[in-house]
Amino acid sequence: MSETIKGMKRTHRCTELKPSDVGREVVVMGWVQRRRDLGKLIFVTLRDRSGIIQVVFNSETDPELHEKASQVRSEFVLAVRGTLARRSDDAINKNMETGEVEIIASELRILNRSETPPFHIEENSDANEVLRLKHRYLDLRRPDLQRNLMLRHRIAKIARDYYDENGFCEIETPVLTKSTPEGARDYLVPSRIHPGKFYALPQSPQIFKQLLMVSGFDRYMQIVKCFRDEDLRADRQPEFTQIDLEMSFVDVEDVMAINEGFVSRLFREALGIDMPAPFRRLTYAEAMERFGSDKPDTRFGLELVNVSDLVAESGFKVFKDAVENGGSVRAINAIGAGSKFSRREIDALGEVAKTYKAKGLAWMVVEEDGLRSPIAKFLSETEIENIKDRLDAKPGDLLLFVADRDEIVFDALGHLRLELGEKLGLIDHDRYDILWVTEFPLLEYDEEEKRWVARHHMFTAPMDEDIEYLDSDPGKVRSKAYDLVMNGYEVGGGSIRIHSQELQAKMFRVIGLSDEQARDRFGFMLEAFKYGTPPHGGMAFGLDRLTMLLAGTDNIRDVIAFPKVQAASCLMSNAPDVVEEKQLEELHIKTVSKKSED
Ligand code: AMO
Ligand code: AMP
Repeated sequence: MSETIKGMKRTHRCTELKPSDVGREVVVMGWVQRRRDLGKLIFVTLRDRSGIIQVVFNSETDPELHEKASQVRSEFVLAVRGTLARRSDDAINKNMETGEVEIIASELRILNRSETPPFHIEENSDANEVLRLKHRYLDLRRPDLQRNLMLRHRIAKIARDYYDENGFCEIETPVLTKSTPEGARDYLVPSRIHPGKFYALPQSPQIFKQLLMVSGFDRYMQIVKCFRDEDLRADRQPEFTQIDLEMSFVDVEDVMAINEGFVSRLFREALGIDMPAPFRRLTYAEAMERFGSDKPDTRFGLELVNVSDLVAESGFKVFKDAVENGGSVRAINAIGAGSKFSRREIDALGEVAKTYKAKGLAWMVVEEDGLRSPIAKFLSETEIENIKDRLDAKPGDLLLFVADRDEIVFDALGHLRLELGEKLGLIDHDRYDILWVTEFPLLEYDEEEKRWVARHHMFTAPMDEDIEYLDSDPGKVRSKAYDLVMNGYEVGGGSIRIHSQELQAKMFRVIGLSDEQARDRFGFMLEAFKYGTPPHGGMAFGLDRLTMLLAGTDNIRDVIAFPKVQAASCLMSNAPDVVEEKQLEELHIKTVSKKSED
């Protein structure tokens, strides 16, 4: 039988007990981390969300209590009363926050028993992740996950405080709504009352926050769940949380400045790190040119170098053709890797490049007395010398080339660069590197749909000086969009919006959205915009990603209490799941059953 806590009141969390409390009677409650039986003495480490403390049961002073303590097992829930004592010098544990003290028990209640958990609950568990996710409530007892979730709470709290102090008002927007313009697939919710009609869960509160600007709220913020049915990755979940905000009467620099203030404060208050604003700005064009990515990790070099002009007339057809067809040949000097990497390792880099659609990866190892390279025979002396010069190549260096359309060259080399940075140990994992990427292209050409599409969303404003190209050369138009990039992750993004009806109509035309389609999808918004819309803009941070980076993990699941796995399912609750036929009928839904072998 489990005992009650009647008459017992917790006085402290485990690690709140300090050497200055020695001699006091205390009561702690928590879970058994470990029991060590040394005959006369039994040591129990008790864990709560603050950490652990050691409790001692002595058979000589209290045989009955000692006998009771011998019954406890891992994960039993205990209440312990006792006196805080200083440990003898030789028993001090420097690796434990409470390692100088221990509780000499005078009362023990077993509040509940526990079956042996399916995995040992400890920091940095190496237990199978599937098993841990199935029993997430136990996984969440682990100190690292508890720390992560408490950090997440801190970040949300700092956000609310900061934006509140700067005149932002938190306003909730609907979850059952219409399709939003973020461009991923929607999660749909069938309507019972309107047969055949569906709500969409919001991919972001984008439209509503803009409408709040029309309403005059001026500065809005919300910590809000967003839903996107897209392929999951280590930094993506189907439901995730944004710190979302919007402001009126602002331009790009104003939005950046207020949010830099937030990020600086976050680093100071959550991590004790000084992160002075303003942060570095890099235009999209420069980010691509130098790092092959619109979210560059600039903690290390290995920048991309354009060698197109040097090989335009080359005897190596792959290079010559790429340049002739309007593409480029670019290279990375993996400094020192020529003498480190085996042929097999170089070939493996080629495979990495191919996963990003490169047709191959040409390479040169620079040696004291020449070159080792499968393509050297196609290039002239001068071409080789020019390339080496431009890449500042020294003996021992490995030069890697991709020739293709710019888009593929950037993507392949950008990813190779990251792989090389990791492989060559160039990334300082203790450093935080923050920058803005600005002046994104407004539009991109969708080859499949054969039309221009908005890169961010169709409410993003073009840069004033580029508006004139909207009709003649849409690909050239830069936008007032910006992303905040941290250690190679996009942690936030936003834009100044179009507030003029004429410009919005033009934008719809350019992306091939007919008046009717626009009215159908966003009619209520276009209608609202007729009644005096202030200039406005904003952004949204990914709270999960932000927490992930501040917690120093590379898996977004580590900062979400009950996350989903790759297949967008929850291993613990088994969602999504089948529902009763009756429910489907009420919702006017018939499912097409899959073949039985599925
Ligand atoms: P965007 O689509 O860039 O912008 O999203 C903003 C930030 O949200 C995070 N994020 C995600 N995090 C986890 N899982 C996902 N599936 C996921 N998708 C996005 C990223 C990203 O930077 N309404 C606009 C913002 C605006 O214009 O104000 C928007 O949603 O960190
Ligand atoms: P090939 O003549 O096709 O055997 O290619 C010779 C070398 O060039 C090989 O190392 C290929 O990986 C490399 N290569 C092929 N296509 C490309 C490309 N588009 N960009 C860079 N290297 C390439």
